[in-house]
Amino acid sequence: MNARFSGKEIADFCHFLAREYGLCFAPTRYSFVENRIGPLLNAFCCQTPAELLHKAKTDLALRVELLNTLTTNETWFFRHPQHFLILKNHVLRELVEYKRKIDNKQLSIWSAGCSTGAETYSLLFAVLDCINPAEFNIQITGSDISSDALKTARIACYNKHDLRITGQEVLHKYFIEKPDDTWQIKQEILKYTKFELLNLLKSWPARTFDIIFCRNTMIYFDNASKTSLTQRFLSALNPGGYFFTSANETIHMNDDADLKKLFIENEIIYQRSSVKIEHQVLKFATPSDLLRALNLLQNHGFEYHLEKIHQAHNLAPTRAIYLNRRDIEKVKELFALNAIKLGNSGTAGQ
Ligand SMILES: C[S@@+](CC[C@H](N)C(=O)[O-])C[C@H]1O[C@@H](n2cnc3c(N)ncnc32)[C@H](O)[C@@H]1O
Repeated sequence: MNARFSGKEIADFCHFLAREYGLCFAPTRYSFVENRIGPLLNAFCCQTPAELLHKAKTDLALRVELLNTLTTNETWFFRHPQHFLILKNHVLRELVEYKRKIDNKQLSIWSAGCSTGAETYSLLFAVLDCINPAEFNIQITGSDISSDALKTARIACYNKHDLRITGQEVLHKYFIEKPDDTWQIKQEILKYTKFELLNLLKSWPARTFDIIFCRNTMIYFDNASKTSLTQRFLSALNPGGYFFTSANETIHMNDDADLKKLFIENEIIYQRSSVKIEHQVLKFATPSDLLRALNLLQNHGFEYHLEKIHQAHNLAPTRAIYLNRRDIEKVKELFALNAIKLGNSGTAGQ
């Protein structure tokens, strides 16, 4: 069945897509939307486009189909190779050095709008080229709104087109060639990645990352959504963390934003202000010591933040407190008075 939308119907539909998913289609792209959603009328037993719109508000399966149909999942390995060079030659080097100093062996990266996974795995290869996974706990998370794209990402098998600019060395190091001319990523490195369904414009799980890539994804969003999304990416970065986006996606930030623009090898990369100098890391003997310490800091109005750390042993806390250096003596005194025990290495950091 060939759908024929009235101007108002297609405008209403696109308004719904923008509000719910941030997917913006200018009137010049209405025929694209019309062609893509026409076949869904039959599949979801709707007589009219208005009925489809009504059903999409409550029918989860229809929403999933809509998103799979309307998102553009174009991606390939090492897309914009300069970003991966900067990652290897500058960003990872600096992060590793800093994390060794503060004894934080957690490295977490987010590929937001990862599509079928090429970007997520390109990040993984860059990391494994520079970092020994026996030293750092590496976790690379890919997320997307399209369940079909994520299915492909989890299968981790790609064709020549996806790998068109991937060098032979990478292919042989990280893939196994299959008889049907496709390339499967080696099983043993998949454990460093995970994929999740996530609408960037809805709420996220509370967590932070050292590096966030969000490229060729915000182009779908209107200016207000881009501004609030960038602000939320900033909050999801660890202090000193890096944000990569595509050159054609202008960053929408408030002037007082805590995000520095770095110019590296003719590219603009963003970095959240670092706390290297002002903060000291406090590690605790047990989770209960950490909990009591948090209560005390809150009750006494001290400034602090929590960060994930490498767990020294099974019963050790998985987080440490980052405290402003000026407060360190007072806080240690307070902890001693309350018999709060610091971990073996006690304090670390610069
Ligand atoms: C063109 S691909 C970019 C893939 C990869 N980042 C790259 O640069 O090659 C854009 C991806 O953004 C996803 N996307 C669009 N809107 C989204 C939203 N609201 N939340 C999460 N992902 C979204 C699409 O499903 C698509 O897979």
